[in-house]
Amino acid sequence: MKKVVVKSSKKYEILIDRDILSKIYGYINPILKGNHIYIITDDIVDRLYGSVLTSQLKNENIIVYKYIIPNGEKSKNSDNYIAILNDMAVKGISRTDSVIAFGGGVPGDLAGFVAATYQRGISLIQIPTTLLAAVDSSVGGKTAIDLKQGKNLAGAFYQPDMVICDLSLMNTLPDDVFKDGCAEVIKYGILAGNPIFDQLKNPIKKNIESIVYRCIKIKRDIVQKDEKDKNIRQLLNLGHTIAHAIELLSGYTVSHGEAVAKGLLLIAKISYTQGFCSKAVLDRITDILDVYGFDTDPIYKEKDIASAIIMDKKRNNEYINLILIEDIGKCVIKKTSMSDLNNMIQKAMDYRG
Ligand code: GLY
Repeated sequence: MKKVVVKSSKKYEILIDRDILSKIYGYINPILKGNHIYIITDDIVDRLYGSVLTSQLKNENIIVYKYIIPNGEKSKNSDNYIAILNDMAVKGISRTDSVIAFGGGVPGDLAGFVAATYQRGISLIQIPTTLLAAVDSSVGGKTAIDLKQGKNLAGAFYQPDMVICDLSLMNTLPDDVFKDGCAEVIKYGILAGNPIFDQLKNPIKKNIESIVYRCIKIKRDIVQKDEKDKNIRQLLNLGHTIAHAIELLSGYTVSHGEAVAKGLLLIAKISYTQGFCSKAVLDRITDILDVYGFDTDPIYKEKDIASAIIMDKKRNNEYINLILIEDIGKCVIKKTSMSDLNNMIQKAMDYRG
């Protein structure tokens, strides 16, 4: 088993191994205070693994409640958020009890925000079941729901008390869901460079344990320095400002991973056409996205992408912090005006290299 310790406003462990869901009680027992656990999951995860989790907790005389949302980004909404808080109150969940976020980024973000706000904060255990959640959303304490105006517009920084990452759960992931996580892993490869970037030339599944471990350590190191996203944590948004805009424009029919891949290539093209990186760097990024079969066409006009970005929570009045690529392993934060951004996107989209 690999272990990563995060020392942020809360100190917690991330455990990474295969076949640990069936033994989970032994790992979480030391951090449990109350005897109620409220699991928030989606219908697909529940069908596959719900009983493995609930039966062993019940065997340990824990009172288990479960709230199942439909799989998909549309469930990360304020109606589900309020419904869950009400249900927890009706069930008598107290401040000493725990929430388990069981699933991908959607149950993880929603359950995290519930845990952050129910009775001003109760214990939270993240059990990611997708590659994307394992390497990104379950770690670092960003919790949120989407509003009609955009993704993650209401949320809180709220660190989990433990993250249990069972890599065996990733065996049953549909190819497109696994691929979503690959886009985040490629993001880490561009941010941190080698050894992870070159490792990505081989299928991620072959080296999943070491890749997940490396990505989590990269994120841990950044979060420890800037938990509240004031400076270097923004590097983790590489490709994401454009990705969120594309997701919003598509009504969330383009998946997060596909949108991140489009965002990474467009930002690489912006970085090249603005003179931040060489053509060789752009080519390496194009090639690695090709290896995973991503459709990197931005699919929307630059004007539409720019106006969707205006809705993005990361804008600061008329400026936005854009993450640009100087080299594989070297990215920078550049304060960019919205009008410059519009021109930069246009120039990058006009580029045919
Ligand atoms: N997903 C980006 C971050 O956690 O900061």
